[in-house]
Amino acid sequence: MCTFKTVGKATRALRGLNVGDTMGFRGPYGNHFPLEQMEKANLVFIAGGIGLAPVRCVIWNALDLRDRFDQVTIIYGARSVGDLVYKRELEEWAKRSDLKLWQTVDPGGETPEWKGEIGFVPTIVEKAAPSSNNAYAIVCGPPIMIKFTLPVLEKLGFAPDHVYTTLENRMKCGLGKCGRCNVGPVYVCKDGPVFTAAQLAALPAEY
Ligand code: FES
Repeated sequence: MCTFKTVGKATRALRGLNVGDTMGFRGPYGNHFPLEQMEKANLVFIAGGIGLAPVRCVIWNALDLRDRFDQVTIIYGARSVGDLVYKRELEEWAKRSDLKLWQTVDPGGETPEWKGEIGFVPTIVEKAAPSSNNAYAIVCGPPIMIKFTLPVLEKLGFAPDHVYTTLENRMKCGLGKCGRCNVGPVYVCKDGPVFTAAQLAALPAEY
């Protein structure tokens, strides 16, 4: 399954396709969230908007191998109730006793029926205050959400090399050849898109 949000030329063209149409698809490219390094640890998943799409696969992997991890916390937010994706999965996760799910929408994005939190994702991370003890954070969402979430995690005591997040640079070739996506010496398409907060801190502030 492939999830996308219509934001530009390519996704508009995708949106215009119909069942049965043919399209080309290259990939996947780049690296991944290294769940295999996180066994026996507490996992904290933090996602915003369509950023739940890549994190959702990692969550399902962790839940398939649930006994290999300690506590699992998921914090997910979107601009409005209508912008929350994978609502069926969110309902399933909310029912599970082996994980803690926090859902939030930005102020003004709630409906009268909304029972979750109201507040921006970084604020809710601060409120949830997941323990940083033997924990890894996996963060994916809009750059502004990531920018304000990383300092909260730092304040909670998460080591920079235990915080994994993604960069969203514009890409063309996806193969480390065209130079469209690089930040300093790093090609986001080939060396990323997943980086630790420690790796990001060593890069020039061009992303
Ligand atoms: S997209 Fe071409 S080098 Fe990364």
